[in-house]
Amino acid sequence: MIIAIDGPAGAGKGTLAARLAAHYGYHYLDTGLLYRAVGHQMAARGLDLDDPAIAGHVARALDPSHLAEGELRGREAGERASRVAVHPPVRSALVDFQRAFAVRQPGAVLDGRDIGTAICPDADVKLYVTASPEVRARRRTDELNAKGRDVDYERILAEIRERDERDAGRASAPLRMAEDAVLLDTSALDIEGVFRAAIAIIDAKQAEAARIRA
Ligand code: DC
Repeated sequence: MIIAIDGPAGAGKGTLAARLAAHYGYHYLDTGLLYRAVGHQMAARGLDLDDPAIAGHVARALDPSHLAEGELRGREAGERASRVAVHPPVRSALVDFQRAFAVRQPGAVLDGRDIGTAICPDADVKLYVTASPEVRARRRTDELNAKGRDVDYERILAEIRERDERDAGRASAPLRMAEDAVLLDTSALDIEGVFRAAIAIIDAKQAEAARIRA
């Protein structure tokens, strides 16, 4: 069972994916961490993030099974990830690991930008989780303020718009909803509501698959 979850930054897909994986007892891969790791390693070594050949080299040398998650969180790491993710050599270097992860038993949940469209086009369930840029910026601002970080809503909104534009506008595996994905707009839903909606979609898919097998 492969569950593919795509959507823009800050829509809540990571939280949803982790909860779904725990609920069904499936493996979970946050694919954004792979791109974050490439960006982080390049920045740490003073390499040019906009050079596709160098970025591809770093991505091929990455050991995706050992990612230091702590240092990869945060807005700056996300921004670097989005920049290196435009390079085709980076994307192709990370495909095999993601596809091997996706077929782990009894199932896997992967979240990212291109899971339903490029990495796992045959995924059993595809969800496209989104919310308006304003709602995502408000949530992120509140989250950071709650952690004691004094951030400005307008600045966060501008960053979110810029990231959306880069992730959706790139030529290689851009962010877009797969034709057979189910849209989950979280603008007016809390985490619990999003989770329940996703469970209903997945359970219905599983029941349908069981009917077809019988
Ligand atoms: O999901 P995230 O915010 O951790 O992702 C960081 C960046 O990595 C995102 O802006 C674009 C890139 N990314 C991607 O291109 N494809 C993916 N499957 C996951 C992330």
